Amino acid sequence: MNTPNLVQRDRLHLWHPYTQMATAPPPLPIIRAEGVYLHTEDGRRLLDGTSSWWVNIHGHAHPRLNRALSEQAQQFEHVMFAGCTHAPAVDLAERLLGVVPPGLTRVFYSDNGSTAVEVALKLAQQYWCNLGRSERRTFITLHRAYHGDTVGAMSVSEDSIFTRPFAPLLFPVTRADPPYCYRCPLGLERASCRIDCLSSLEAALQRHHGTVAAVLVEPMLQGAGGMIVWPHEFLAGARRLCDRYETLRIADEVLTGFGRTGKMFACEHASIAPDIMCLSKALTAGYLPLGATITTERLFDAFLDDQRAKTFFHGHSFTANPLACAVALASLDLFRETDVLARIARLEAHLRAGLTGLTALPIVGDVRVIGGVGIVELVSDKQTRGTGGYLDGIGPRLAARFLERGLLLRPLGNIVYFMPPYVITDEEADWAIDQIGEVLSNECTEVR
Ligand SMILES: Cc1ncc(COP(=O)(O)O)c(C=O)c1O
Repeated sequence: MNTPNLVQRDRLHLWHPYTQMATAPPPLPIIRAEGVYLHTEDGRRLLDGTSSWWVNIHGHAHPRLNRALSEQAQQFEHVMFAGCTHAPAVDLAERLLGVVPPGLTRVFYSDNGSTAVEVALKLAQQYWCNLGRSERRTFITLHRAYHGDTVGAMSVSEDSIFTRPFAPLLFPVTRADPPYCYRCPLGLERASCRIDCLSSLEAALQRHHGTVAAVLVEPMLQGAGGMIVWPHEFLAGARRLCDRYETLRIADEVLTGFGRTGKMFACEHASIAPDIMCLSKALTAGYLPLGATITTERLFDAFLDDQRAKTFFHGHSFTANPLACAVALASLDLFRETDVLARIARLEAHLRAGLTGLTALPIVGDVRVIGGVGIVELVSDKQTRGTGGYLDGIGPRLAARFLERGLLLRPLGNIVYFMPPYVITDEEADWAIDQIGEVLSNECTEVR
């Protein structure tokens, strides 16, 4: 009898995320990864075009990161973070505070992007409670937002097929329009508009500011909700509105942090600082799960009291995991020692040059590029801009075509995006861009 392979064994016992297990194609059996490439058990080499779900930045199996991980493992792997501290956590906090926007001074660690968001929501809520302003307990978020899959993070995300079965568990939020220029909520053109779409956020704040704890956004690039790239003026305007209505502003930089939009943090595009910032994903360069919620001294001070009731009662078993912190520190070393942001600027130029022309194709509605992310929004009809959204069958169909060519992409329905590790070479980026162009051109011929 033959020994079952990895995929056969997987099929017997595993359940994969966001995967319809009845119909999904077999998972890719990865046995090795190096730089931008993944190697499969059946001998294929695939270019990791999604940075392994947006987490990898310096490439897989990076010798420097491997060393940091193994050196920390020789010291100790983990201790509880209530009542104990350690150098990796302290060093990392100091280093993070040196690179995040000014005014952020306190780091609270957790495990992943969703928990970084949960911590932000709870901090904002309890901040007002501790000040005796418990009427400020609701949140304003944006349509098409995605902040994670835990219950609080789902509540502040867009109401969608991701969240609908859980509706009874979710708390109500007020949603305002994002600046989705290709589908402008006001029917305006970016070239001539004055960021009029901010009126939706302003109206929400006018109406609810007395009860709002915080406004939460994914600055500059709304990810899973459609890879929507913002004009930086919207971000600056949102900050101004939060100041005017004296509400906290939370920047969810779980996706955008650590260079993904071309700046170290997306808030820098508008030279603004949030009151609370959520980080994860590329924080550990894609090595280990770690979240960080970073806030101001003003917010921290509201939790200081002789009364233990004002304590922030939140924590996770793996808070400030030393292995994860050690790799995160080594990743920040790489940012310091090599000009990572210059590399991203080159990648951005290649993405722009290679993808912009695709707008000529009948199925391409819009092409957007920001930092190391290139996005192609597909439509069924250019006039009506119609799409099947996240469940559009074109997503999995194209993913299979890209895979045949050795390119691993995971379109969000009708949104095809390419977000490789920053270490990708110009030649590799151009190759991937060519594959995207050819597959989309072929799709046009086949559709006709
Ligand atoms: C902006 C944003 N926030 C939060 C999350 C949730 O992160 P995680 O999947 O690590 O829980 C994501 C994940 O894609 C994200 O893009």
